[in-house]
Amino acid sequence: MEAPEGRGIEAQRQRVLSVEEWLRKWSAGATAFHKEHGHPLLQKHLDLLVDGRSGLRIFFPLCGKAVDMKWLADMGHSVVGVDVSEQALKEFFADQNLPYCEEPVPGISGAKKLQLKVTVGNAEYSSTTHATES
Ligand SMILES: C[S@@+](CC[C@H](N)C(=O)[O-])C[C@H]1O[C@@H](n2cnc3c(N)ncnc32)[C@H](O)[C@@H]1O
Repeated sequence: MEAPEGRGIEAQRQRVLSVEEWLRKWSAGATAFHKEHGHPLLQKHLDLLVDGRSGLRIFFPLCGKAVDMKWLADMGHSVVGVDVSEQALKEFFADQNLPYCEEPVPGISGAKKLQLKVTVGNAEYSSTTHATES
């Protein structure tokens, strides 16, 4: 008989979406995970994260178009987000009404960096169009 944790891992494995499936979700607008008003747990525990420090460099892996990035950047933190979906990043800039420029990422073929044109709290947002498998 399989241990409960074994079933849990298998259940997780079954739920893992491929990069192509994520890209399809973005292109179909199937982004119910997106929280228009930010993540309540991040808001609740912000003090623990920041711990009185200013000018933090905050990394958002799998960022989508999370509004929390702008929220933290507006506080003066430096934000870097990474997502496989270029559309997600472009929607982020459009939703936030922020201008950006695009640059290739040296050493990562096909990847692009989308960077805020005007500095707002030193924010920087990136999109890799090739994902690394781990
Ligand atoms: C559940 S969504 C969460 C998005 C965001 N953190 C939020 O809370 O709204 C997962 C995100 O991870 C991205 N993603 C999935 N696999 C990825 C990969 N291998 N590399 C980079 N981004 C990936 C998807 O495009 C999607 O935007």
